[in-house]
Amino acid sequence: MQREHVGTVPVDRLDSGTRFYLKANGMGRLIKRIKKFDAVAKLLIGREVLRGAEIGVSRGKLSKSLLQHYPKLTLYMVDRWCQPDESDSYYDTDKHSWCTKTEFERYLQTAIRNTDFAGDRRIIIRKHFNEAATEVEDASLDFVFIDCDHSFTGTLGAILAWAPKLKENGIMGGHDWEWPGARSAAMNYARHVGGKAVPGIKQSWAIEYPA
Ligand SMILES: C[S@@+](CC[C@H](N)C(=O)[O-])C[C@H]1O[C@@H](n2cnc3c(N)ncnc32)[C@H](O)[C@@H]1O
Repeated sequence: MQREHVGTVPVDRLDSGTRFYLKANGMGRLIKRIKKFDAVAKLLIGREVLRGAEIGVSRGKLSKSLLQHYPKLTLYMVDRWCQPDESDSYYDTDKHSWCTKTEFERYLQTAIRNTDFAGDRRIIIRKHFNEAATEVEDASLDFVFIDCDHSFTGTLGAILAWAPKLKENGIMGGHDWEWPGARSAAMNYARHVGGKAVPGIKQSWAIEYPA
């Protein structure tokens, strides 16, 4: 019997989440980095994905995958690419907070290079997520993906700043489900809006609403 493949990978060797949405989307290739987007991707199946935001971009690896995966997507790539000061909730939650100024500059340049193929579909905002949100129209996004500060305050702050940017049926989700602060922020926010924060593979999460 012939074995089914996605790109060069046999379908039966993919994890179920990836298999599910890649097949549902009729994708002909596997995009490895998109796995951390799993929980959101599942909720976007069957929709036209035109505008979204990734909060926390670093070297733009996920941005690149998203722009490849969704050919009509215009992506806001939000990251301040600078060291947090000691009062910032991000200060000791992630190794990136310890990058030197030079390293952050290099990460930004790498993010630009990684997404150059979609230069007309990316909008890079180099600011704190609160300030960046003021540059985006309310009710305009199909998804928001939070992957920046993994603390409770940082995650909740990012969710609250960006939730108004979602269209009525837009999807709020993110990464770092295994970080207690990030998970608790997602769960608390979901409860507050009558939804449920649901984990996917690779530490992804998304907020689902009852049908
Ligand atoms: C884990 S990395 C992002 C990885 C990226 N999403 C990917 O999958 O390729 C986290 C990034 O969040 C950014 N960040 C942290 N706190 C931030 C804040 N308050 N505003 C904007 N960016 C922030 C950091 O500069 C860092 O580059």
